[in-house]
Amino acid sequence: MLVLTALAYLVMPLVDRLTVQWFVKDLNLRATLVANTIDEPLYGLVAANDTPGIRRFFARIAQDERVFAMGLCGTPQGTPVATASLPGEINCANLNSFSDPTGRVLTEAQGPLLVSVRPIAPFGDTVGRIVLVQDMSFVERRSAQTKQYLFYFFVALGVVVSLITVAVAQLSWRGWVHGIQALMRGEGLLRPAHLSDEGELQPIADDLRTLIRDIEAEHRLRDEEQLAWTPETLRGILDRELRGQDVMVVSNREPYIHVRQADSIVIQRPASGLVTAVEPIMRACSGIWIAHGSGSADREVVDRNDRIQVPVEDPSYRLRRVWLTQEEEQGYYYGFANEGLWPLCHIAHVRPTFRTSDWIQYERVNRKFADAIVQEAKSPDPIVLVQDYHLALVPRMVRERLPAATIIAFWHIPWPNPEAFAICPWRQELLDGLLGSSILGFHTQFHCNNFVDTVDRQLEAMVDRETFSVSFNGQTTVIKRYPISVEWPPNKSLVAIPVEECRARVRERHALPSDHAIGLGVDRLDYTKGLEERFNAVERLLELHPQWIGKFTFIQIAAPSRASIEQYHDYEQRVRALAARINERFARSKYPAIILEAKHHEPESVYEYYRGTDLCFVSSLHDGMNLVAKEFVASREDERGVLILSQFTGAARELPEALIVNPYDADQCAAAINVALAMPLRTQRTRMRLMRGLISEFNVYRWAGRMLLDAATMRRRGRILGRPMQASRWVSAADDAGPEAPAHPTAHVQSESFR
Ligand code: G6P
Repeated sequence: MLVLTALAYLVMPLVDRLTVQWFVKDLNLRATLVANTIDEPLYGLVAANDTPGIRRFFARIAQDERVFAMGLCGTPQGTPVATASLPGEINCANLNSFSDPTGRVLTEAQGPLLVSVRPIAPFGDTVGRIVLVQDMSFVERRSAQTKQYLFYFFVALGVVVSLITVAVAQLSWRGWVHGIQALMRGEGLLRPAHLSDEGELQPIADDLRTLIRDIEAEHRLRDEEQLAWTPETLRGILDRELRGQDVMVVSNREPYIHVRQADSIVIQRPASGLVTAVEPIMRACSGIWIAHGSGSADREVVDRNDRIQVPVEDPSYRLRRVWLTQEEEQGYYYGFANEGLWPLCHIAHVRPTFRTSDWIQYERVNRKFADAIVQEAKSPDPIVLVQDYHLALVPRMVRERLPAATIIAFWHIPWPNPEAFAICPWRQELLDGLLGSSILGFHTQFHCNNFVDTVDRQLEAMVDRETFSVSFNGQTTVIKRYPISVEWPPNKSLVAIPVEECRARVRERHALPSDHAIGLGVDRLDYTKGLEERFNAVERLLELHPQWIGKFTFIQIAAPSRASIEQYHDYEQRVRALAARINERFARSKYPAIILEAKHHEPESVYEYYRGTDLCFVSSLHDGMNLVAKEFVASREDERGVLILSQFTGAARELPEALIVNPYDADQCAAAINVALAMPLRTQRTRMRLMRGLISEFNVYRWAGRMLLDAATMRRRGRILGRPMQASRWVSAADDAGPEAPAHPTAHVQSESFR
């Protein structure tokens, strides 16, 4: 409308000038026509010197509405013979000044007048000149009318243009709304064409199908046995199924680290998915946890057998610490485990480094842990849960010394495809070590498949894809999927502060206004976690949707990790520099785009952030499961908050109600953040409820319970057959169970089928 008004304002004077010019031209033509028509009769009257006749003749002509006056000059000096209305300033002496063929406009009190002068020469002789004065006030009237019409025209045009604009906006709005609805359903942007490719989604679809089958089977089992997965369930399994056997857990990382700070000793709980999952299990089952004593004050608090009862405030189990020399820690932990196996299994574009010296330490330390297990075992057939990639050789080492032990190894990180794994110079030793276990667990079926394919490619072993087991060196190992999870319901101390208070505290701590939107990331400072990709997505969000500048902040909690490794050190520098650059770029806003908290946070503080923020973004480039995603969901009993989850995490296979993204696609991640920030509370609630429902059923007690139930069944079978245990017999017995057995040949064995 404004543009049209401006246009009209510019166009009006032009139109005015043009119409006046046209009318003047027409009036001049008219003057010529009148002069040509009257010259003969006028000649007669002039020749007869009939002045009164001439006046009468002129008066008749002047009756015309437009002819104002008429006059005749016979001589240049004489008085004109004219109608009484001839303006006084026209006389025969100044007639030349009016003789321009285009006429001259006089402005009189009654309005503008056009004065035209024409010669009278009917037969070639000029007998005089006539003056024709025409009234031009009608031109003004018409011009005013034209302006009025133009005004109406522009108003009508404005209305039409506005209607068209509204209609177009309405249509595109609808398209946008459909688009957003499609996004919510996980189509379109969040599942772009290149990802909706059947082949690429197949593993997720398979895992989901398996998950649904598991839930159904679980419900049947519950109906039959009233079984709910709680700490009591676990204790019940140990008492009933495993005759009160102690559980022995062995891992590199310990659940409680005693650190000396000046004169006092403080206890730290490490940022580790493994610890998050296994600690509640140990609290429920008692038993012993063997781990590397890595804290600066660890030695000061143990007894003479290197043991300590934990948690200190409510002792429930024993922690046995294994001591490593600096050289051992360097070669085994920093070197082989974290510069070799970690990048090898994660395929996150960091080249693995393998050194013989590291391998020697890795073997030596694994032997140390195996010795500790044998020392701590109270019977010749203990149940040993060996955790993660630091201890791949332990199962075989323990098997050699305690052949009747039930060894369950669990690999917490991804298992790569056979080609990727083949670059490890000690691949066969690692596979042999792991195949010392009775059961080998992974988070997803995809990783189980990769492991079995790797064994098939690397070892002279018998691989049975029907039962998903591997027989090697006279020992059979069942490969099975156990998706890890978190404690449910979450520990009361972690969710004691109401959500509203957490929101206020987080905003207050970072000097943000109470209605400020906050996104959260919680990770170790590790290159597999995709922190750079996450920050890029935040930057892209602010580029594409500038309305969030100064209204949205992303808080990243990043626990320093493995910092003496060069890649980790460099990564931290890059992450810090990127956050600083992005903040610099949007420095015009009062509030920072990114807040990077690169320090250790205790679980209580992390939960306060989970509960006090609007969305949690997990952008791992590759992750076995990722428990941050599950912790965030478990922490939100208010059923608010949105989870954005990388498709390359194991968790994405269980939580399809999260906004699933490809962390390498910054535009898609930015769109997901924008969708999350605008998501209606009702939708947030629906999604949260579904995810919470799943985690409540598939909690960490179920994870451990299923492994222990499988171990119990295996032991029973072994006793019946009069030998420690033969997994192949055990599994084929499971097959006899008929309808309960999985239909899919590669699907894992379901324990309820052989209960
Ligand atoms: C991953 C590994 C765990 C490890 C954790 C923390 O989750 O699977 O075994 O404990 O990272 O790493 P850190 O090297 O500090 O133990």
